[in-house]
Amino acid sequence: MSRPGNPEYSDIQALARFGHGGLQEALFLLLDITDAAKAGEWLETAPVSSAEWSDPPPETALQVAVTASGLRALCLDEAVLEGFSEAFLSGMAADDSRSRRLGDVADNAPQHWTWGGTPDSVPHLLLMLYARTGQLAAWKETIQDPLFGQAFRIVAELPTVDSGNIEPFGFTDGISQPAIDWERRQTTDLHQRDRYSNLLSLGELLLGYPNEYGQYTHRPLVDPKADKRASLLPVAEEQPQLQDLGRNGSYLVMRQLHQDVHGFWQFLDQQANGDPQQREQLASRMVGRQRDGTPLVDRAGQPIEGIENSGPAAALNQFDFARDPHGQQCPVGAHIRRSNPRTGDFPPGVTGMLSRLVRIFGFGRQHPGDDLIASTRFHRLLRRGRVYGEQLSPAQALETGAAQAQRGLHFICLVANISRQFEFVQNAWSMGSKFGGVQNEADPLLGNRQQLANGRSTNHFSQPDPQGPAHCIHTMPQFVTVQGGAYFFMPGIRALRYLANAAMTKDEATS
Ligand code: HEM
Repeated sequence: MSRPGNPEYSDIQALARFGHGGLQEALFLLLDITDAAKAGEWLETAPVSSAEWSDPPPETALQVAVTASGLRALCLDEAVLEGFSEAFLSGMAADDSRSRRLGDVADNAPQHWTWGGTPDSVPHLLLMLYARTGQLAAWKETIQDPLFGQAFRIVAELPTVDSGNIEPFGFTDGISQPAIDWERRQTTDLHQRDRYSNLLSLGELLLGYPNEYGQYTHRPLVDPKADKRASLLPVAEEQPQLQDLGRNGSYLVMRQLHQDVHGFWQFLDQQANGDPQQREQLASRMVGRQRDGTPLVDRAGQPIEGIENSGPAAALNQFDFARDPHGQQCPVGAHIRRSNPRTGDFPPGVTGMLSRLVRIFGFGRQHPGDDLIASTRFHRLLRRGRVYGEQLSPAQALETGAAQAQRGLHFICLVANISRQFEFVQNAWSMGSKFGGVQNEADPLLGNRQQLANGRSTNHFSQPDPQGPAHCIHTMPQFVTVQGGAYFFMPGIRALRYLANAAMTKDEATS
């Protein structure tokens, strides 16, 4: 059993630790299993990349994730399957209530998706292939060996492009990520963090470890007395009589997000009356950073835990919004502020026991947004997306007649709890029409601009102005449309071999 200070990198898929930034090419394959035993055979020896450091760095990488229907197709016992979370088992598009909460209505609705929108179009497996420039085609051929052809049917191939960390609207992406406490140095006792911290318990990323509540995430545990294959799995840390199918695995959320780059820049230009400076300013206020990643707020007074305090990375990330409560520097509704409000457990200034009690009982609010934004540390995402489609520069997008094409972001994030992390951020923060004191608007990049049940519209974007009344745009069109998506489980490598074994020997499970 691993102890704090000794991460099990060899059992963790590399994507949890590295974004594969040095592997510029990537291809995502969505697969259905056509022969479970053959699929098991292929998965048992698949060259899945682990999170161990390697020098020189690898030229290629492979990661594997599986949906709930994929686990069933691999013949995983129903009783074991029930140990996964409700969100994962239901799936991203399975019920109207979830779709409404995620903003997947109207043009975003699952019935329009090219994959994942109906039970039949949810793939069983996701294979993620990464390679150095020029090597992806050969890597794909290696992966698609004869056994692969007997085991799987390719449902969709999702190519990506190397855009050099620039997402299709033209902004530098992948700047802010949580720092994972791999060596488990921080205490797992119930701790409070008054101020924003970027350091996150391992259990917020991987199953089988204590999370930010100091608790082990709900996950499937297997009784070795009932399942003789269970010895392939790691031991459950807090219940050593059981084996842990979740340990070292993460949930992987994938959404294919089409971006209307032409519409985005044309709209901004129209709002700015063609003034390039104002256009850039509005764009950066919608994101919360300038295009090169420079944040819109001043550097924090004190160093933020889990963020480098010096060097270029520090300049981009050593900030929170404590000194800009009304959004005069960075609008409260800006994309990065909604996705990570950088809040601690208590608003700034609440430090002593008495003032904490006052806040806990709901008194002492200074700003209408104070109580609406939960502490960030319970709602962080590790992003691992890749861009697809031919890219347009903002200048090209501003030209009339700029090509409308399929381009956007294969948004991918890794979490240990889909509902508390991804769904909360997507629903309460990105799509929430009331956020931090702003109303009738949603995320300026992601919002679907649909009317609320009370008839109010959500197509506003307000920018407070220190000199006078807030500027408010009332006619924001939709810039991002969901075109596919699913919830996957990216297992630990021993868990993957267990699943492979289950599929190969489905008739011999019980001893
Ligand atoms: C096409 C859609 C999207 C675009 C164009 C986009 C773009 C960006 C950009 C430019 C940044 C700033 C760079 C950085 O800090 O890494 C950013 C940050 C971020 N985005 Fe998105 N994003 C998209 C979708 C999403 C979705 C669906 C979510 C989650 C539900 C999300 C969550 C985040 C988070 C958590 C951050 C980091 C915020 C921080 O810690 O400061 N994004 N995004």
